[in-house]
Amino acid sequence: MKEILKSPAMYQLFQEAGGFFGARVNAIRDYLSLRPNMRIIDIGCGPGYILRHLPRDIDYIGFDIDQSYIEHATKTFGHQGRFYCRYFDATAAKEFAGVDLVMMNGVLHHISDDELEGTLINVRDVLNDGGILFTLDGCYKAGQSLFAKWMLDNDRGRFVRTKEGYEQVLRTAFRSVEMTIRDDYARVPYTFIIGISGK
Ligand SMILES: C[S@@+](CC[C@H](N)C(=O)[O-])C[C@H]1O[C@@H](n2cnc3c(N)ncnc32)[C@H](O)[C@@H]1O
Repeated sequence: MKEILKSPAMYQLFQEAGGFFGARVNAIRDYLSLRPNMRIIDIGCGPGYILRHLPRDIDYIGFDIDQSYIEHATKTFGHQGRFYCRYFDATAAKEFAGVDLVMMNGVLHHISDDELEGTLINVRDVLNDGGILFTLDGCYKAGQSLFAKWMLDNDRGRFVRTKEGYEQVLRTAFRSVEMTIRDDYARVPYTFIIGISGK
């Protein structure tokens, strides 16, 4: 399964069939207010399908470290945004400074605490005053369904955390962190956590 998901098309099919992609769309609708001309950086943008659900009049920049996802995103959505196959490091934070929103959709659980702390400092630095970081990930929770727990145990991301775990790492770089758990976003039993963080 993990091999199959390396294909951009199969990854997207899996995300849509399980309602995992719909969860991203719902969370953006429920927790963000997008304005015309906003500059948005999407770290771990994958094959770029979220652009189908974002307004056209934004300045969108996608980063991912997977070459095949970035090639697919550029081919399919290159007319709507710019895509880079590179780490979001301190150089990128300087280069793209002045951002209103950073999205990390399904990404925190792919990155260890040590690495994530550095990335989050770069995210904080690229944001305008008043800018926010939006995150969405699978989350462990006491009493969640065994199916959800099994999915999380078998995720490609090796750093699925509890609410407290996500909150702790986000607070290393952000002063304001609000986290919300949603069990109602996927077509299958699954626990998501949405984070809205500000400087
Ligand atoms: C579960 S996918 C999410 C893709 C997309 N955001 C979505 O919502 O469908 C996680 C993505 O994060 C990317 N990724 C993992 N570690 C990363 C890192 N350190 N920097 C940037 N992207 C990373 C992976 O290559 C993968 O495309």
